[in-house]
Amino acid sequence: MKLNILFLYFVTILSLKSFSQPASLPLIPKPAELIITEGVFKLSAQTVLVQNKLFKNEELLLQKYLLEHVGNSIKVVAKIPAKGNYIHFKNKKTLIDTEAYHLNINPQHISIEATSGAGIFYGLQTLFQLLPLNGNQLINIPSLVVNDHPRYKWRGMHLDCSRHFFPVNFVKMYIDYLAMYKMNSFHWHLTDDQGWRIEIKKYPVLTSTGAYRNGSMIGHYRDHTFDSIKYGGYYTQDEIKDVIAYAAQRHINIVPEIEMPGHAVAALAAYPQYACSGKPVEVSKQWGVESNVFCPTEETFLFLENILTEVIALFPSKYIHIGGDEVPKEEWNNSAYCKALMLKENLKDAHELQGYFMKRIEKFVNSKGRKIIGWDEILEGGLAPNAAVMSWRGTEGGITAAKQKHFVVMSPGSHCYFDHYQGNPDNEPVAIGGYTPIEKVYAYEPTPDELTAEESKYIMGAQGNVWTEYIHTPEEVEYMAMPRMAALAEVLWSPKQQRDYINFRSRLLLHFKLLDQQKINYAKSVYELKTLVSPANQNTSVLYSVTTIADPTGIRYTTDSSEPSLQSHIYSEPILINKSTCIKTAYFKDDKQLNKTLTTNFIIHKATGKTVTLKDLPSPNFSADGPFTLVNGIRGNLGRFDNKWLGFCAKNMEAVIDFGEPTSYSNVTIDYLNLTESWIHPPQKIIIYTSTDGLNFSEVKTVSSDELKKYNNTIQITFTVQHTQYLKVVAESIGIIPSGFPGAGNEANLFIDEIVVE
Ligand code: ACM
Repeated sequence: MKLNILFLYFVTILSLKSFSQPASLPLIPKPAELIITEGVFKLSAQTVLVQNKLFKNEELLLQKYLLEHVGNSIKVVAKIPAKGNYIHFKNKKTLIDTEAYHLNINPQHISIEATSGAGIFYGLQTLFQLLPLNGNQLINIPSLVVNDHPRYKWRGMHLDCSRHFFPVNFVKMYIDYLAMYKMNSFHWHLTDDQGWRIEIKKYPVLTSTGAYRNGSMIGHYRDHTFDSIKYGGYYTQDEIKDVIAYAAQRHINIVPEIEMPGHAVAALAAYPQYACSGKPVEVSKQWGVESNVFCPTEETFLFLENILTEVIALFPSKYIHIGGDEVPKEEWNNSAYCKALMLKENLKDAHELQGYFMKRIEKFVNSKGRKIIGWDEILEGGLAPNAAVMSWRGTEGGITAAKQKHFVVMSPGSHCYFDHYQGNPDNEPVAIGGYTPIEKVYAYEPTPDELTAEESKYIMGAQGNVWTEYIHTPEEVEYMAMPRMAALAEVLWSPKQQRDYINFRSRLLLHFKLLDQQKINYAKSVYELKTLVSPANQNTSVLYSVTTIADPTGIRYTTDSSEPSLQSHIYSEPILINKSTCIKTAYFKDDKQLNKTLTTNFIIHKATGKTVTLKDLPSPNFSADGPFTLVNGIRGNLGRFDNKWLGFCAKNMEAVIDFGEPTSYSNVTIDYLNLTESWIHPPQKIIIYTSTDGLNFSEVKTVSSDELKKYNNTIQITFTVQHTQYLKVVAESIGIIPSGFPGAGNEANLFIDEIVVE
């Protein structure tokens, strides 16, 4: 009994210490337990590594790392030296799991203990993250004790090498980044409509034709513009073997993805006989979802099985990813062959036909001793008996699969899609859309509350996805993946109760030194300036404040439209805006500007800074700075729904502005978004009312739907001069999206920003 109490006491001390201190050490993911002790270990050219034959692989990796990053390798000796400091790997018989490790750094030695090479490897990653603390010359590593192990067993990152192709040397670098963050699964997206990237010896046309397209989309999808440059590339089987071995040395499993039955146009460009139409097609130049999919004939199954046979021979992975997402069913519904097959197999619809497709493929993959994993659409036609699910359209698919006792990897678009914007789109390279800043990734909880403890055991972990439609080069992959990968790694490795974003961010700022030393092109969005506008001077003007997580003296600004420089004003307190002004702010670190300049154009009008009340609040996801957004003096970007708009889902916007005293005005300008491809429609009617008491309103002007159609996204409404304290603006939603528009039949969104009153 006593022993137990003592043990608990010890554990409590350990966790308290580890919780309170590691912001000073740049360790990501944060170790489960860490105590800093006395003294430093001086790593020098005289430091030796004591040989342990069990861990030859890790010995070689330590030598390689030190040679590349510190400038000298480390000598391996047979025995503990009589004098001088040393590093030692030890085989421990029991630890909490095979990935756990115990790291002890003191002035005499560094020891890493684990039951397997993986544990030693993770101990090394912790050690490597401590090396840049003092620069490259003098390496003083603080004494400490770490007991560490992962929370989840699937800690993954994905890379789409079809939309854009990345050379082997970069794929290896990407694997190094996963290793740095103790991730253990690399999902290699090798086939899609825009390019087939894996050599299959039995079907050489897959790569001679399928690996190349005759042009690509340029700019954003909605621009529908293409170049005509031949683009492509593929990995030979020898290259793939080399990458698999490289990853295995770093304790990373590679899950190959061979997409079927959809996202198959590159394969069908090579072998059109496996589509229902059989018509020749080109490798896709455009992004999106294509209707041309594999036809479920016996010949197609044989073709896919032959491909999978070669894939399985190459990749030792227990799971083979067979895609299954975004499969339009028109071709199957129009095919006499598919109709007959559905009748024969007693399948009620094309979704069940997809279930049949997946189950046949699963049977084949299982016969080779492997399992399938697929995107959550594989649930729709009935899940194959042993399939695992990757939940991407949200978490519902993962929840359903776990309740059915199927293993799950969580990868919801909301938190795990690293092709989304991570900062203000005005400052970021063109991305597919969305907004997934690092704090959102860090807040992600892979185990949904909806699951019982028993069901939760089916959540293997989570994965970050890097789709590359808008990512062309290795540098751009780094930019989108880093540092969001670090945030996800901590979610997946560190104990849940230790998760603390402020603490993570402090470690991240120190950890950037390591990324800088390795010349990794990580995004600086975490330094992005955040602005706040609030009413000032009894609602006659506004105050503009800027914050940053870093040293605030790095913020410079101008008010004359010129670009900020090191000579511009240092921002030290909120700026009062009482006339129309263009403010430009930028953040400078080490004399260099990080991120693009932030430009805010204020228009000061009669309603600026006034009190606004809304009858119905906007959707929580599109509520910007609340009702005040409508009169904060900043107009939303007319081409895009950024965080300056109020969004109402199938509801009217009804705002009352209180000028504080009777005020004369004769026109109102209202901005709205017209982005029907994103289900955002203009209002169908706008009505202006006035009131002297805020209770009884009289109509001043109504703008009908016909008149609104003459304007795209902004309208100025003029009327005879009014002199009242209150003004009401009603923008009526169209409610349901009409036929002929994307999302027809669903609720339409109405996005409104500044209501300018003159
Ligand atoms: C996906 O993003 N289509 C899985």
